[in-house]
Amino acid sequence: MTYAPHRFCVAPMIDWTDRYCRFVHRQLSKHARLYTEMIVDEAILRGDRSHLLDFDTEEHPLALQLGGSDSTKMAAAAKIGAEWGYDEINMNIGCPSDRVQSGRFGACLMTSPDLVADCLKAMQDAVDIPVTAKCRIGVDDQEPAEILPRFIDRLAEAGVTVFIVHARKAWLDGLSPKENRTVPPLDYLLVEEVARARPHLTFVLNGGIEDLDQAASHLETFDGVMLGRAAYERPFILSRIDTRFFDSPCEAPDRLTVIKAVAAKAAVMDVPIWKFARHMLGLFHGEAGARDWRRRISEEGRDRGATPDWFIRLGTEITARSRAAA
Ligand SMILES: Cc1cc2nc3c(=O)[nH]c(=O)nc-3n(C[C@H](O)[C@H](O)[C@H](O)COP(=O)(O)O)c2cc1C
Repeated sequence: MTYAPHRFCVAPMIDWTDRYCRFVHRQLSKHARLYTEMIVDEAILRGDRSHLLDFDTEEHPLALQLGGSDSTKMAAAAKIGAEWGYDEINMNIGCPSDRVQSGRFGACLMTSPDLVADCLKAMQDAVDIPVTAKCRIGVDDQEPAEILPRFIDRLAEAGVTVFIVHARKAWLDGLSPKENRTVPPLDYLLVEEVARARPHLTFVLNGGIEDLDQAASHLETFDGVMLGRAAYERPFILSRIDTRFFDSPCEAPDRLTVIKAVAAKAAVMDVPIWKFARHMLGLFHGEAGARDWRRRISEEGRDRGATPDWFIRLGTEITARSRAAA
């Protein structure tokens, strides 16, 4: 059976889903679709492209998320992303932070569907890979039930077929970005209604999905799910995705295998193990030894003695402890 490419996605998260984090996630699941952090179009046009865009071939399938609202710049940035080898370009229409608002990126664009549609159209014209949208259900005093269907239809008119919807509003005035991920209530039902009325479009549900049982139940309604914090904070849940959601015959990887693969990668890339380890604090979540794992990475992981071998020794010790307690 072939599955929709967006069946299980790990959300774009600034400071979190860098290439090192994505490498870790990819060791845990071969099929989950991974997203970069949001990168602003200007940064790609003027900045250090290698630093911003380089990734490991193992990371596929991989989407580049762009922030911006100038169709010419967004198209140019998308073209560079496609040439760099990404599998999808995603436009951020959901990020509420101040910095982002000031440049007219992210969630504030929910009020400008024509501008967003122009950007997405220009991006699609510039590349041969899918161009997708990640949005909220509305901002501030917008009425989601009214604006979301219109917003989606306007973007669909511009040719977009894949919509990732973070199923809550963003309050641009008064809430911090963090509060904007918890305070506005989730409205899965509205996204479901919008999706059901548009069976020709692909809808990926995002926001507040805590575990794989919840993901499975949403997959009865939606084409895909996207998990952010749950996947980052408890990455080992990703190890069950391939067998559970993609019928993969491969055994789920164990933690020590992942730790060894990461250590080998850090050695080959000649980068500090910390770059990877900081994204693995939650690897033993719920297991005996989890607290020591976190503490020792936090306390020793940045030292010069924190070599790949040190990481494997620590992983071996904590794995033994968690197995003994099981
Ligand atoms: C640390 C952090 C950084 C984030 N950065 C981005 C981003 O760059 N682009 C984006 O579209 N959403 C960003 N988000 C929002 C997530 O992609 C996601 O929509 C949100 O966390 C809700 O999903 P969840 O409840 O599964 O975490 C970020 C979230 C977190 C926690």
